[in-house]
Amino acid sequence: MTVSTATGVACANIALIKYWGNRDNDLRLPVNGSISMNLDGLVTTTTVTFNASQRDTLTINGGEITGKGLERVSRILDLIRATANINEKADVISENNFPAGAGIASSASAFAALALAGSKAAGLDLSERELSRLARRGSGSASRSIPGGFVEWQAGANAEDSFAFSIASPAQWNLVDLVAIVSAAHKTTGSTEGHAVAPTSPLQAARVNDTPRRLEICRTAILQKDFNALASIVELDSDMMHAVMMTSTPALHYWKPASLAVMTAVRAWRTDGRPICYTVDAGANVHVITVESEARAVEENLRALAGVNDVLIARVGGAARLAANGDS
Ligand code: PMV
Repeated sequence: MTVSTATGVACANIALIKYWGNRDNDLRLPVNGSISMNLDGLVTTTTVTFNASQRDTLTINGGEITGKGLERVSRILDLIRATANINEKADVISENNFPAGAGIASSASAFAALALAGSKAAGLDLSERELSRLARRGSGSASRSIPGGFVEWQAGANAEDSFAFSIASPAQWNLVDLVAIVSAAHKTTGSTEGHAVAPTSPLQAARVNDTPRRLEICRTAILQKDFNALASIVELDSDMMHAVMMTSTPALHYWKPASLAVMTAVRAWRTDGRPICYTVDAGANVHVITVESEARAVEENLRALAGVNDVLIARVGGAARLAANGDS
């Protein structure tokens, strides 16, 4: 095989209906379906080059990564090598354009960009479904960063039919995600460990059993642009996931006092008639969802809250794409 290189660009995403817990940790088959929106402008750009070197290498934002981080990437490269029937090792160079430690999970955009760039560099031309399945093996939420706009990841009955697809384009609804940064600390328990302990919570079964109902309400709210319906289901879903986290063994408490202060303010602003709601991933920062016309005022209000150190703003993003090398 001749030396081959490709660059992929993928957005981060924020789950509106959360994925928490796997049926199969190795295959990353989730216990429940999930829905997210891609975050425009918060991207990972990854270049994969297969070459004659003896080992895979990984560079993230200029720093070389070895150990577990590299192993996780090599596992995806192994899947690509097996499909393409090649043996070459690869250099992987990845850049996140969002601040490190800003509490935006980079694994979704990172594994989506890696799946796209790696498969292309290996000479494969995978479909969106195939890319979504491949990205899923690196990080479940990465399956949702392959398609564009508002995206649903169906749990599926097996590894083949567990993939994500677009339910509406970015143009469907001009939602804005304002991420209130209350802590730049690296989270203590990553989501891979978190998924593994989810079944220890007595609340997980109830959360999982109720998920088809929440998915349906969320999907319909997006298609009908019904903000009130979206707000109540998104907050309920986030609170249900955190209830599971808090009641797992070991217990996972991701919220900080400032997280709760932001959530309380958001609920009060909604009571005042504003289209606004919150959702929190496996970290302390609060994603505040609103519509374009309110974004500027919400940003000001968030910045005025004690404990909010910064606010990142993202609109609805498109699908993962290939870039000309050097382009981002
Ligand atoms: O893809 P992972 O393993 O990083 O898990 C993501 C888990 C949450 O961000 C908390 C929820 C979600 O659906 O994105």
